Amino acid sequence: MRKVTLEKLFTHPITQKYVGRSGMAHAIAVAEHAYSFSLKLNVNPDLAVKAGLLHDIGHYKWYRDGEWDYDLYKENDIHAIKGANRAHKLLIRSGEDPHAAKEIALAILLHTDSYLPDGELRLNSLQRVVTLADEADEEPGGNHHYRTIEYKDALTRICNLDKRIEDAHLQNLGCSG
Ligand SMILES: [Fe+2]
Repeated sequence: MRKVTLEKLFTHPITQKYVGRSGMAHAIAVAEHAYSFSLKLNVNPDLAVKAGLLHDIGHYKWYRDGEWDYDLYKENDIHAIKGANRAHKLLIRSGEDPHAAKEIALAILLHTDSYLPDGELRLNSLQRVVTLADEADEEPGGNHHYRTIEYKDALTRICNLDKRIEDAHLQNLGCSG
């Protein structure tokens, strides 16, 4: 049994506030994609889904005169940096293992290169999984941030991911059912 489940992170007010701001439907889809990619790339699925759920927790809404300003966002965005920090704090306060919290925070820090000067990032497998998962759910014009989902449906999908991770964990221990 994991000490920190995805459900525990999802229901936390910090997650609801900040992930809700950047799009809960997108965050859950990315967590699901991250789960699938983690199996293909042989990455710990627990770390992958947590990083997927929290990857955009650092987003800030850039507004000018009450309107979303994409140029302002592109110029000033540091959501991956802010997100890594915010997610790390949330994970540690929730009781996450410090090594796991660091791995997840780094995957969030490097899930996009949009805020970095030109150059090539050398991603490890977990960081690659989160990047691929995010790209898999992206829509033109950032529309993936505006899709909505009912809280109840979101929670059901989160609990499904928890269950799949727990089941896989039990199978690895040699338990069946
Ligand atoms: Fe994203």
